[in-house]
Amino acid sequence: MAFKVGIAGCGTVGSGVVKLLTENCKLIEERTGKKIEIAFVADLNKDKVLSLGVKPEKFFDDALKAVKEVECDAVVELIGGTGIAKEVIKEALKRKRHVITANKALLASSGQELFNLAKENKVSLKYEASVGGGIPVIKALREGLIGNRIERIYGIINGTANFILTQMSQKGLSFDEALKVAQEKGYAEADPTLDVEGIDAAHKIAVLSSLAFCRWVKTEDVYVKGIKELTPLDIEIAREEFGYSVKLLAIAKEVEGALEVRVHPTMIPEENILSSVNGVFNACLIKGDFVGETLYYGKGAGSEPTASAVVSDIVDVAVGNTFFAPECLFKGSNLRIREPDQFTSSFYLRFTAVDRPGVLAKIAQILGKYEISIKMALQKGVAFNGGVPVVMTTHPARKREINLAVKEIDQLSVILKPTFVCMIEEF
Ligand code: NDP
Ligand code: HSE
Repeated sequence: MAFKVGIAGCGTVGSGVVKLLTENCKLIEERTGKKIEIAFVADLNKDKVLSLGVKPEKFFDDALKAVKEVECDAVVELIGGTGIAKEVIKEALKRKRHVITANKALLASSGQELFNLAKENKVSLKYEASVGGGIPVIKALREGLIGNRIERIYGIINGTANFILTQMSQKGLSFDEALKVAQEKGYAEADPTLDVEGIDAAHKIAVLSSLAFCRWVKTEDVYVKGIKELTPLDIEIAREEFGYSVKLLAIAKEVEGALEVRVHPTMIPEENILSSVNGVFNACLIKGDFVGETLYYGKGAGSEPTASAVVSDIVDVAVGNTFFAPECLFKGSNLRIREPDQFTSSFYLRFTAVDRPGVLAKIAQILGKYEISIKMALQKGVAFNGGVPVVMTTHPARKREINLAVKEIDQLSVILKPTFVCMIEEF
């Protein structure tokens, strides 16, 4: 008997799923013994759906109505957002249908509620496509690494931001110029806020860390800083003077009994493998206590790669693999979220200063007052924002002391602009 799926939302990802299921239906059946059949496709645009070869009787312009009226084994939610998408998922779960979604924004806000609803109704809620597009990183974390205590996750999990940073690094473009290229190529949305402010990556690291550390992590638990303040000069100095590349890195790790979850521009050693993840590609480096470091790399977005992940979830439930979340996640956890003030790392500080004797000494004195040890210091002989850039890297320091010191330094009359601060991750 065929396994019947209803598809709610037939945009970029949904149309890819319809196409994949149509083109590779036979291949999937040969491999799994299961025939996957589309029960309905719901979208606001009928012509778009029919142009994919979907029969008119399978089209619905109301996803909720389709879920209520059409018998199926699983519902695939690809509408996105936290409104109607949530209603569709809840309705499907209550009707004891498995649900597959790519909706990281919804999982990062309502994951606990939806997972519990799935469990209550004894069905599965799968979400492979919610992180890393086509990369099977969720399955790796949930199943492949199940025997490991996860120590840390490093992710380049926003393709748009990574594309912009790559353009800034390789072509010396400003943030605005690189964003324009990303928009022209169709990578960035007209409103790129979620991508460039780090919010999309925060949704994704929330999903990954809930799974890895058995504690619900919501978007608001993630410290987030976007990439807009970065200049090509910082990227050039980081590379040429210190041997770092700059990535929008999502990080989750347990430190001193607390969970640290953050997304921000990060300087990483050029020899680290994540440095070579460029353009729209994504990568996740996951370290387990027995396996050591593992790396997952591929296309993090787009119709076909994301459809590949969605279909892997469909096939999973069709063949009876309904395991979707570790049991401990449902039991609750005492693991607290670490306050950003406590984050400890080396820092890159770029001051915009008046070019005058004694400026370095003034800065160094304040850093010393907060017991921040300077590792390297240099002044670039270029005009910058009406002054000159003075750059320092520090030995490991707490973010709290860095913030206090920078606040005081920025009040000096020789400092012309707010100081740019970037964390360094040495791995
Ligand atoms: P799109 O906006 O391209 O597709 C959403 C579709 O849902 C649109 O066709 C929209 O119609 C339709 N829709 C809106 N409201 C309803 C409704 N009430 N009933 C039925 N259909 C409706 O989004 P994407 O395909 O890009 O994204 C879908 C999900 O996948 C999101 O959660 C996203 O975060 C996630 N995702 C996307 C990736 C990508 O590469 N695009 C990668 C990984 C995850 P209309 O256009 O007419 O409004
Ligand atoms: N907007 C995301 C990105 C793709 O640029 O990576 C969807 O997850």
